[in-house]
Amino acid sequence: MKVLVIGSGGREHALVWKLSQSPRVKKIYCAPGNAGIGLLAECVSLAPEDVAGLAGFARSNSIDLTIVGPELPLSLGLVDEFERQGLKVFGPLRKAAVLEFSKCFTKEFCARHKIPTAPFQIFTDPSGARQAVKERKSFPVVIKADGLAAGKGVIVAKDEAEALKAVKEMLVDEKFGPAGRKVILEEFLPGVEATFMVLANGADFVCLETSQDHKRVFDNDEGPNTGGMGAISPAPAVTKEINEKVIRKIIQPALMGLLAEDRPYRGVLYAGLMIRDDEPHLIEFNCRFGDPEAQAILFRLESDLIELIEAAMAGKLKSFPIQFRPEPSVCVVMTAGGYPGPFEKGKVILGLDKASGMKDLFVFHAGTRKDNGGFVTHGGRVLGVTAQGRDFKKAIERAYEGVYAISWEGVHFRRDIGAKILMRPGTRDQGPGTRD
Ligand code: AMP
Ligand code: GLY
Repeated sequence: MKVLVIGSGGREHALVWKLSQSPRVKKIYCAPGNAGIGLLAECVSLAPEDVAGLAGFARSNSIDLTIVGPELPLSLGLVDEFERQGLKVFGPLRKAAVLEFSKCFTKEFCARHKIPTAPFQIFTDPSGARQAVKERKSFPVVIKADGLAAGKGVIVAKDEAEALKAVKEMLVDEKFGPAGRKVILEEFLPGVEATFMVLANGADFVCLETSQDHKRVFDNDEGPNTGGMGAISPAPAVTKEINEKVIRKIIQPALMGLLAEDRPYRGVLYAGLMIRDDEPHLIEFNCRFGDPEAQAILFRLESDLIELIEAAMAGKLKSFPIQFRPEPSVCVVMTAGGYPGPFEKGKVILGLDKASGMKDLFVFHAGTRKDNGGFVTHGGRVLGVTAQGRDFKKAIERAYEGVYAISWEGVHFRRDIGAKILMRPGTRDQGPGTRD
């Protein structure tokens, strides 16, 4: 069959890489793709937001299935348009994808369906938001832009001054454009974060392995939030008991709530969790695979991805025998210097050949471009070096061996991806894939 993947990041490279291993897949296109994806698929220069162009491409090339990577085309109704034209596509309709592109919708949805989440207030006028900040007795407080902001529209404000600054940036200066014209003031939830993803179709769903992102740009979780600086899988905080609670208190109520509100969900549902005192709380829903989480998880997936997605399309997920390798995985994201702020492009990437030859390791490309036969940087997040090992210690060692083989001018990466897990008592010597 012929498959079209939409997107150009590490997540899409991981999807294409996994699809390329399926005997069922004869040809993969990726729009627009990147230099690494170009080694496995035919890249098509159409932007993810060019819904009409993509539908036209899928029609004229007899694409059997389209898989949507990023959130933007979902929010623009790409799935609705493909379905209108009778094209097979995996992802949620716009009315279900609202769960990601409006955080205000999601907070109110959680309240309606008793999904545990942080208490919140919603504001559109700056004076009301400012007053609420000034009346607060404790900090930090979390300020969130309502709409899509590439993972950067959330400010954890440690005091009143920072909170007022965030309110001003969003509601007055419109730093995030229309996305920030509505803001949420949310209680700060301390705890451990984890990513919990399912493939779903209506009430039918199957869980993927858990993972943990590293959102802040610097070691020790310092600096601003990013799209994600690295991921590990499985998430150490998600014990068997928590896993069961997430399904019962978050995933099932969400899928059933969406059905009841005539927004049936089909696609990957991503629940960003904060776990505290053995209780999971929802931080956000995303309507797609997480990135970099997808790199860590798809690296462990043993099942055929096409068969899994076809089971989802057919509503046969509950009986799908999904298989993951038990060995944990670690993905370290390498970025351009300056990211998530302004950064330069076009830096020559060295050492890719050496890293690519390493065992149990794969270098997923994100912001890369071919230039004079070599590879140059072409985005903020440039590469995701992903490795597996018999335990976390080995997986981390392997991933960093790959990272240290690669370089370019101004390269940045965190040196502590997965490090916390090695400091947890009892984790260091555990066997493959065990969780505490
Ligand atoms: P979001 O885009 O909603 O996932 O938020 C980005 C990041 O901000 C999360 O991954 C958390 O690290 C942090 N965050 C968001 N909401 C909260 C909260 N209520 N309490 C603590 N941290 C939060
Ligand atoms: N890594 C977080 C996200 O994909 O939104």
